Amino acid sequence: ARTKRQAISAEPTTTTDTSQVHLFHPFRCICRSSELIQRALMDNDFMKHLEHGQILTIMDCMYPTSLAKGCCVIQEGDDGSTVYVLEEGMVEVTKQGKKLCTIGPGKVFGELAILYNCTRTASVTALTDIKLWAIDRQGFQTIMMRTGFIKHSQYTDFLRSVPSFQSLPEDILSKLADVLEETHYSDSDYIIRQGAIGDTFFIISDGQPVTLTLNDEQVTVKTLSKGDWFGEQALKGEDIRTASYTAVGDVTCLVIDRDLFALLCALCRLQAEADFFSSVS
Ligand code: CMP
Repeated sequence: ARTKRQAISAEPTTTTDTSQVHLFHPFRCICRSSELIQRALMDNDFMKHLEHGQILTIMDCMYPTSLAKGCCVIQEGDDGSTVYVLEEGMVEVTKQGKKLCTIGPGKVFGELAILYNCTRTASVTALTDIKLWAIDRQGFQTIMMRTGFIKHSQYTDFLRSVPSFQSLPEDILSKLADVLEETHYSDSDYIIRQGAIGDTFFIISDGQPVTLTLNDEQVTVKTLSKGDWFGEQALKGEDIRTASYTAVGDVTCLVIDRDLFALLCALCRLQAEADFFSSVS
């Protein structure tokens, strides 16, 4: 299988081959590329919490590479060794032969297998000649271990302290902590508005209570506070909000959206979103 994969994927298959290790490589991205890489990293759901210094370190470790149209950049099921930022051209992402999406310049791909120590979750093929910036597993993981580490452990500790989430396995808590985004609200801000389209799920992480009202009657039906969560219907695919949630004073929520949650479920091999909710409620 390894020989076959080597034949069809352009990806280096081992990081013990020193010719493939590019830790702190002398290539320093030129200015235009630096901006593109920086934006790509900050735009990636799994990396947007990185601190500026850590983004700069990743950029310092990246080296340029290019592939011809039709090349397989990543083969589903392989052990991944590289994370890429696409600089020029287009690639297609497929899973079990089915197209998931196309990716254009300024996007990161190949991060999942490296971040989560799993095999490649999809195949990536060059639709045109492409130019890439790449970073090897070893360098990327070394930086990521330092990156957002404090924030990550704060989020994991917080999730572990929430009774609804206590029964979740550690690896799921950890992955949830990776993708949560912090949002802040002031007094009277609508966090969710009844009737609006929504695709996000919220956990209250700090601040004053949040009130739930129905039919815009300003009558508080329920008051939620730190550790409570809401908006879960959106994760199940029902995207019209059935109630309004309003901040009372300053509130901080941790937020996850439907696409990311679905990806997380797949990564965690959760059977279905419903299973998740039965396990946490
Ligand atoms: P990785 O699993 O390391 O290798 C294949 C890459 O394809 C994966 O990381 C992601 O970067 C990307 N990928 C996988 N699934 C999707 C998806 N549903 N949408 C967009 N990109 C994806």
